[in-house]
Amino acid sequence: MAFASEKMNTLYRMFEDSSHAENYSMYRLGYPEELKQSILTFMADNGCNQSDTRLLLDIGCGTGISTRLFSDSCTSCWGVDISYEQLKQAISRKGRNVFYLMSLAESTCFKDNTFDLITVGQAWHWFDADRFNEEVKRILAPHGCIAVYGYSFPTILNHDKAQEILYKFYTVTLAPYWSERRELVRSHYSSLVLPFKTKFRNDNLSINVKVTLNGLLNYIDTTSAAHLMNKINPGNTITKDFKQELAVAIGGSDVSKDFNPLLDIRASVFMEIAKKD
Ligand SMILES: C[S@@+](CC[C@H](N)C(=O)[O-])C[C@H]1O[C@@H](n2cnc3c(N)ncnc32)[C@H](O)[C@@H]1O
Repeated sequence: MAFASEKMNTLYRMFEDSSHAENYSMYRLGYPEELKQSILTFMADNGCNQSDTRLLLDIGCGTGISTRLFSDSCTSCWGVDISYEQLKQAISRKGRNVFYLMSLAESTCFKDNTFDLITVGQAWHWFDADRFNEEVKRILAPHGCIAVYGYSFPTILNHDKAQEILYKFYTVTLAPYWSERRELVRSHYSSLVLPFKTKFRNDNLSINVKVTLNGLLNYIDTTSAAHLMNKINPGNTITKDFKQELAVAIGGSDVSKDFNPLLDIRASVFMEIAKKD
């Protein structure tokens, strides 16, 4: 897969910023328990390793949100990422049986046939897909599984006008700042081709949470597009104006602590899993 206009170095740097990583760690949406169950059910149904010595590798682990999800279902969970700052946040929230290492997705230091489960949460679109598949074939144990998943930009369910403003911000204001790789997320990874025959896709999952207005705005600031926009235009009032518009639509006058209503948020989750033959 070629993305000629983007140099790999630029991609790595998108997550290499300490304040961004800190916000990421605090405000990113978590994955639903049903996602984990869907992955474990596929593994059980297809005769994968059910023993209590299960080893997991979460690639592009970021601050460890996706790695910690499996910490009570595996003996050891390893998270790897190329961003030092993201890993620093992951380590500061270290869960039980969770270990982190700095590594490229496409060439890890692990031995052949090591892992029972490899997961990739909202990170596959940043990888070189062909080289990544080769690495997965190498380090996955026989009958091991690879699960790749992600989620769409959130929608506000309980305020139509606020949802309209949010959608416009996502599709118009942020448009120049999304990487062309964002299209892969928008298409729910429709071009994903995992390198094994036994597969399952689940498009019926979602993140459903109640988030305060400020929580939602902080989440939006963690997206790569908002981060890049603020970096390129220091001191801009774009985000501030958007926040103001959103607050007024919901019935407040500003985004002060005094006006911080709870919003019903939904993001669709998509997941594909495949078993090594
Ligand atoms: C959107 S974050 C997802 C983090 C986490 N998995 C989650 O679910 O929240 C994408 C992560 O992929 C990492 N990443 C991007 N390209 C990478 C590569 N080639 N090798 C390793 N990590 C990479 C970034 O540094 C970033 O932390």
